[in-house]
Amino acid sequence: MKHFLVLILFLSSATVFAQDITTLDKIGPVVSLQRTDKGVTLNCQDKSQVQISILAADLVRVRASFTKPIPARDHSWAIAKDDWTTPRWNFSETSDLITITTGELEVTIRRSPLLIEFRDAQTHQLINADERPMSYDASGRLANMMFDPSAGMFVAASKKLGFDEHFYGLGEKAARLDKRRSSFVNWNSDTPGYTEGKDPIYQTIPFYIGLQRGAAYGIFFDNSYRSYFDFGKSSQQRAWFGAEGGELNYYFFYGPSIKKILGRYADLTGHMPLPPLWGLGNQQSRWSYYPDTMVAEVVNEYRKRDLPLDVVHLDIDYMNGYRVFTFNKERFPDPKGLTEKLGRQGVKVVTIVDPGIKYPPDKNERYHAFDEGVEKNFFQHRRNGDLFVPRVWPGESVFVDYTITDARRWWGDLHRVYTDNGIAGIWNDMNEPSDFVDQTGKNQLDVVSYDEGEKTTHAKNRNTFALLMSRATYEGLERLRPDRRPYVITRAAYAGIQRYATMWTGDTNSTWEALALNIPMFTSLGLSGEPFVGSDVGGFIGRGNGELLVRSYQVSFLAPFCRNHKVIDGYDQEPWRFGKYYEDIIRKYLKLRYALLPFLYTQLEEAHRSGVPLFRPLVLNYQDDPSTYNLDDQFMIGNDLLVAPILKPDVTKRLVYLPSGTWYDYWTNKKYTGGTMINVDAPLDVVPMFVRGGAMIPVGPSLNYVGEKPFDPITFKIYPDNTGSAIGTLYEDDGLSPAYKNGAFRRTTFTARRGPRGFVVSVGKQEGSFDPGPRKFYFVAADERK
Ligand code: GLC
Repeated sequence: MKHFLVLILFLSSATVFAQDITTLDKIGPVVSLQRTDKGVTLNCQDKSQVQISILAADLVRVRASFTKPIPARDHSWAIAKDDWTTPRWNFSETSDLITITTGELEVTIRRSPLLIEFRDAQTHQLINADERPMSYDASGRLANMMFDPSAGMFVAASKKLGFDEHFYGLGEKAARLDKRRSSFVNWNSDTPGYTEGKDPIYQTIPFYIGLQRGAAYGIFFDNSYRSYFDFGKSSQQRAWFGAEGGELNYYFFYGPSIKKILGRYADLTGHMPLPPLWGLGNQQSRWSYYPDTMVAEVVNEYRKRDLPLDVVHLDIDYMNGYRVFTFNKERFPDPKGLTEKLGRQGVKVVTIVDPGIKYPPDKNERYHAFDEGVEKNFFQHRRNGDLFVPRVWPGESVFVDYTITDARRWWGDLHRVYTDNGIAGIWNDMNEPSDFVDQTGKNQLDVVSYDEGEKTTHAKNRNTFALLMSRATYEGLERLRPDRRPYVITRAAYAGIQRYATMWTGDTNSTWEALALNIPMFTSLGLSGEPFVGSDVGGFIGRGNGELLVRSYQVSFLAPFCRNHKVIDGYDQEPWRFGKYYEDIIRKYLKLRYALLPFLYTQLEEAHRSGVPLFRPLVLNYQDDPSTYNLDDQFMIGNDLLVAPILKPDVTKRLVYLPSGTWYDYWTNKKYTGGTMINVDAPLDVVPMFVRGGAMIPVGPSLNYVGEKPFDPITFKIYPDNTGSAIGTLYEDDGLSPAYKNGAFRRTTFTARRGPRGFVVSVGKQEGSFDPGPRKFYFVAADERK
C-alpha cells in the first residue's frame, strides 16, 4: 500500500494537486467587515482576512491572508500602476450577502461559506463564481509533495467551470490556443527542443482570460511562486489556480470585450514602450557568427542577394571565454570598427548577454564584472552565506541579485562597453535562470534574494529573475543612450516583462510540429500582455529544409520579432542555403514585410497604446463567433489582415475560415463573403492572405533596411466593405527616440467612400506634433472584378 502511494506522488505532482484541491482547508466565514474608501476588508472566523479593492469600474483586486491579518507589505515587481482613482461604488449588505457595485461590475460576497461572485452590473448576468471558498493547506498535507515545502503554504482559488467556457492567455505555453480542459504549471525552465505539451517552459505569465457566451473576464494571479492553473482538466466542476506559497492575490478584470481587458491589463502591468522601428526589421542570427569577417560576410551576402536585413546577432562566442561585458580580442579586435562598417550597410548589431558571470576568473586576472560585484556584494548567496555558484556557459559562475536596486543600476551601467562600441541592442538569454547543475531549480532552493529587505528564497524569486534582469538591462540602456529607445530581447519572463523586453520562444525544433505551435504561442502571448513576439525562423534545433524554411517565413514575416537563428551544430539555414528557388520565395516575403512596415508600425503603436497585440488570434477580433474559439492555424495582424499559412509538408491547398463580413484575397483581390470556410490554393510561393472589407492598408516603398529611404510614397490600398466604405490609419514618428512619449508623433486617419466616379478619400484630423515632412499618398482601390 505504501509503495502504491509513493508511486502516485512520484508520477505527477500536478495531478496530485489537481485531485487534492478539495482536501484543502477553506477560509472561514465572514464575521465582520470594515469599509474603506477603496473597498472592504472582511474578517473571517479563522482569523483570515480578505481585502476587496476597487481599482476601476472593471477592475477589482482580491487579496486574502489565511489565518492571519493581511501583511502591511504589498509589493509586486509586475505592477506598473498602483495609484488608481477609485471610481464611484455602492455598498449594501444583508445577513447573508455583501454587495459591492461599480458602474460595470457587481461583486457579491456570501458570508457563510465565503463565496465571491462577479456579475455584469447592468444585466446581472453571472460572469464568474467561486466554486468553493478560497483555500489553503494549513495542515501541511500538500507540503511533502511541494517542490520546496519551506516556500510556505499552498494557496488556491477555485471557480465554477462554465459549461461552454473557453480559456486564453497564460503567456508562453507549448499548447494550443484554447486552454479549456488543460492544466499548467509556472516555473521558469530552460527547455531546449520542447514540443507541444511540455510544461512548464521559459516564462510565467499568470494571467488568463475566460470567455463564455461572448463575454470575457480576466484573472491575473499575481504570485511569483511555482503556480498551477487547471481549466477543467481534473474536474468538469472547476477551474482553479494556486501556488506553493505567497498570497492568494488576484485581479479580476471585466470586459465584456477581450480588447478592453487587455487594455486594463496593460494599465496595471505596464504598456509595452515602442521599440526602435528597426526592431521590426529582418534579423539574422547563429550560434555563433565569428570572427568579425564572418559576420561581415553574412551581411554582405544579404546585400549581394538583395535580401532585406536590419540586424545581425552575436551569440556567446563573441566574448572572451564567455565573460559577459567583454569581447574576444582575436575574434573581434575592433568591435566599434565592425559596428560602424555594418552600420554603413544599414545593419545593427545585437549581442547576447547571459546572467552568468564567470567565477572565479583565471588566476591573476582582473575581471571587472566579477571583482566589482563581489566588492559591492551584488551576487546571490546561499542561506549559509556562501556565494551561489551555478554552472552555465563560462563554467562556474555567479548571478546578480537583481532585487537590489543598486545592483540593477550597476548591471545596467556595465553595458557601456556595448553602447560605446555601437552595439544597438541586448539579447538576454538563460535567465530562467538556467543552471547546468540542475535545471529544475532544486540546486537553488536555499538561494536568498534581498527582496527589499525581506530576504526571500528562490521559491519566490525564480520566476521574477528574468523580469528584473531585463529591467536592469533596459534601464541601463535608457541611461546610457537617453535619446534612443532601448531594444532588449528576453527568453524568460514574469508578468510585466512587456515594459522592458521583447521575447522569442526559445529553443524550438526545426520541425513542422514546432512551426504549427508558433501561431497559438504568438497569439497566446499577445493575449497575455506581450505583443512583441517571435520564434527562431526555420526552427533552432535539428535540420530543416527549403520547404520548411519558406513556410516558416510565411508565418514570421508578419511576426513582430522576425529572426532566423540556429543552434551551434545545426545545418545552416540563412535564406539562401537551400538554393535559388527557395531564396526567391523568401525574398518575396521579406520584401513584403518591409513594404508593409507602415502598416505594421501603425499596428505596433496601437499595441503600445491600447495593450491589444498586433499578432492576433481570430477570437480577439470576433469574440461573438464560436467558430474562432479554437482557431489556431490562422492569425490576424490588427483588425484587417488575415493569414492562413501552410503548416504541413507537401501541402498546397487549405481550408480557411473567414468570419462574417466582406473579405478580399490579398494576392488576387477576389472578393468573398465570410461566415464560411473556403478552400484555397497555396503553392509554396503563396501564403493565403485576406484583407477585411472596410480596411485601408498603407504600403510603403521597397526597402533593404529601415531608414534606407523615407516611407515615400505610401500607397493606401482600399478594400471597401459592402457599403462602399473603408477606413485606414497611419502612425508616424522618428522611429528611434522616446520623443513619441511626449506627443512627437503623427496619427492620420483616412476614410474612403465609393462615389459615382470612384472613391472620395478624406483625411481626418491629425494627432500629434511630429512633422513627417512631405510625402506622397496614393490611393488604389482593390479591383473587385478579378
Ligand atoms: C540558448 C539560447 C540560444 C542560444 C544558445 C547559445 O540555447 O536559447 O538561442 O543560441 O543558448 O547562446
